[in-house]
Amino acid sequence: MKTKLNLFGFFSSVSLALIAGCLSCAAERVSLDENWRFYLGDVPFPSIFGQDASYHHAKAGSAQGAAAMKFDDGGWREVRLPHDWAIELPVAKTNNLAEGFRPRGIGWYRRQFKLDPADAGRNLELQFDGVATFCTVWVNGLVVHRNWCGYTSFSVDITPFARYGNELNTVAVRVDANEQEGWWYEGAGIYRHTWLVKRNPTHIATDGVFANPTRQPDGRWNIPIEVTLDNSGTETSAVEIESTLFDPEGKPIGQAQSKLTAAPFEQPVAKYEIVVSSPRLWSVDQPVLYTVRTVARSHDATLDEVTTHCGFRTIRFDPDLGFFLNDQPMKIKGTCNHQDHAGVGVAMPDSLWKFRIRKLKEMGANAYRCSHNPPAAEFLELCDRLGLLVMDENRNFNTSPEYQRQLEWLVRRDRNHPSIILWSVFNEEPMQGSRQGYEMVRKLAGIVKQLDRTRPVTAAQSDSMLKDWNASKAADVAGFNYHPTDYDAYHKANPTKPITSSEDTSAVMTRGEYVTDRKNSILASYDEEWQPWGLSHHEAWNRIAERPFVAGGFIWTGFDYHGEPQPLEWPATASSFGCMDLCGFPKTAFYLHQAEWLTDRPVLQLVPHWNWPGREGRTVKVLALSNLEKVRLSLNGQPLGEKPVDKYKMVSWNVPYTPGKLEAIGIRDGKEIIRTVVETTGEPVALQLVPDRSTLTGDGRDAEPVTVQAVDAQGRVVPLANQLVSFELSGPGAIIGVGNGNPLCHEPEKIAANSSANWQRSLYNGLAQVLLQSGRATDGTLHLKATAPGLKPAEISIGILQ
Ligand code: GAL
Repeated sequence: MKTKLNLFGFFSSVSLALIAGCLSCAAERVSLDENWRFYLGDVPFPSIFGQDASYHHAKAGSAQGAAAMKFDDGGWREVRLPHDWAIELPVAKTNNLAEGFRPRGIGWYRRQFKLDPADAGRNLELQFDGVATFCTVWVNGLVVHRNWCGYTSFSVDITPFARYGNELNTVAVRVDANEQEGWWYEGAGIYRHTWLVKRNPTHIATDGVFANPTRQPDGRWNIPIEVTLDNSGTETSAVEIESTLFDPEGKPIGQAQSKLTAAPFEQPVAKYEIVVSSPRLWSVDQPVLYTVRTVARSHDATLDEVTTHCGFRTIRFDPDLGFFLNDQPMKIKGTCNHQDHAGVGVAMPDSLWKFRIRKLKEMGANAYRCSHNPPAAEFLELCDRLGLLVMDENRNFNTSPEYQRQLEWLVRRDRNHPSIILWSVFNEEPMQGSRQGYEMVRKLAGIVKQLDRTRPVTAAQSDSMLKDWNASKAADVAGFNYHPTDYDAYHKANPTKPITSSEDTSAVMTRGEYVTDRKNSILASYDEEWQPWGLSHHEAWNRIAERPFVAGGFIWTGFDYHGEPQPLEWPATASSFGCMDLCGFPKTAFYLHQAEWLTDRPVLQLVPHWNWPGREGRTVKVLALSNLEKVRLSLNGQPLGEKPVDKYKMVSWNVPYTPGKLEAIGIRDGKEIIRTVVETTGEPVALQLVPDRSTLTGDGRDAEPVTVQAVDAQGRVVPLANQLVSFELSGPGAIIGVGNGNPLCHEPEKIAANSSANWQRSLYNGLAQVLLQSGRATDGTLHLKATAPGLKPAEISIGILQ
């Protein structure tokens, strides 16, 4: 079997196949992420004057200026994708608060590549996974695409005008990030991957395999399969399409096939099904994946081969009982998130997704809303593999052809993912409470259903739920953004309509801070601050958890993100909504949700830290976050009382501060189950580096966060340490960003291109993060050193593996 595993251990969606008549030419998907040239700013096109110049300028292949094949980009900076130029730039008060006070602007990218003469005759497709925000693409001097959404992928068939041998192919991309599609930090540039796909002229179209298992009413499972072919060749091909299902161990367990003919430039669709008996089910705890290998053949020669994976699971939204996965009730415990992380902005390495999903699952979350746009493909692959339910969301609410196309692309790309349980066609649209809003959702839902009838459509509606004309009436599941006081009335008025909270909470807290000081833009982490349209974490969850007919909820947000710093303003440049900060360091809300959501293990966490010099004798609120029945607290051995735990509000004490040891004991059935201690620490004496993983793959892509902290003489992490730390890295790799989760920190998250400056970051409430990425190497070791004045330096080694 000629399948290859990608970064995540998945079969890649375009795998090795032999091309008819060219046995040495396997279908390939080549990364184009390296060797781009980048220019920050616009490069004006030369003015066109005169008859001849105007005539020639209007012709295919005659693009001018930086779009021209012959343009000299030698002075441009070399970059590798994913790239977000906005995160490299300093924040300034004069920029847009919503976008994190970062300048965006216009930028240009260029890249050249050669094609082997043997590639002539193959189908060649350029793929861009995401460019923020609008862009124009030229290939070999032809304008080939204008893209109107920063979150949709696009591909361009360059077969007719590709050049071979020593002739260079030139790709030029003008990115206009002055355009805004959101009200959060959206980054700028080619921030997802780019690919060149080489296939037989008769091939399986991009996203052309739909193979999603369904359970029939009689309980039988089958996989209805639809395969779309494409033919850019000169001959009509007689094609046999065959799909084979492999179980998780790789054993073939089913097969089906069909025959058709593909005339040049036709896209015929083959349909057949594989019947499966007693498959193992996919769930969030046991995300069992099967594999479908689809092969197109002509006269016994393989034309193309595509491998997709799938999961056997049923989903159901019940109007009275909420969500069911595999016929078992399951409360949706979700978070909304943007694609954004400290140090890298929106240009997130694939492996960082894995880190973030792991953190969310550690918190007890079982679901994720891609707010408010299509996510990276790699993220969805990981949700399938790690077990996280997904609400997949469209960016632009619009029924005109271009926007229909965007929605169609989303469903077509994503419909094989078992993790996806809902398609969301909008977020909070002013038209939601009108006939027009209803009609638009009806139309968009119709478009979704043409492509996928296995998942319900929702729309994340923020008001007018009780109006006669409102969008939720055209959705399968009513999505409530906030307005929990309307849950009951809506359910009563619409007894057959399932309901979920699509967004709730919008509570704010700054990690490691426990005294609100709005003048200085600090929000205490006691779950006591929220936006007027939201609620505290515990109250928002209470409203959902106590109503079986509400399928679940999606907290705004799992992680902080750049931009939208409300209720703060400058100097805050990032949001404070997250259960975790921009680096993924937990805040109080993280432990609160662990206590509310986790049932498989005891949770007991105390906040705050116990370093309050100057507050001796004054009370400090101590909050215990626990899923146990009672908590007993003591300070320096003196009992402070045993209290029952409220499953939403948790339990708190007002404790007169004395330095020392605060100890909590969690009790169930009268028995001690778990103990937690928080101690007053000494001054920091040394730095510590804690890598997320001890090795990286030497593929030039793998990346990981390293936690930076300061410890006292007894090795205890000092919660208030704020030293400026410098970093040095040697070995095959690079530092790609730094952060500390402080929304007020204006230190650079990247060092400027061509700068000789050192990588540096202050600890914020004891913590900072360095992001490391491997270089291309088969072995070797990365050595990271952290130094700060007055502290013992820290050093770690990360092995690079093949
Ligand atoms: C919601 C909106 C989110 C975010 C949030 C902040 O209304 O859907 O994108 O802006 O408010 O509270």
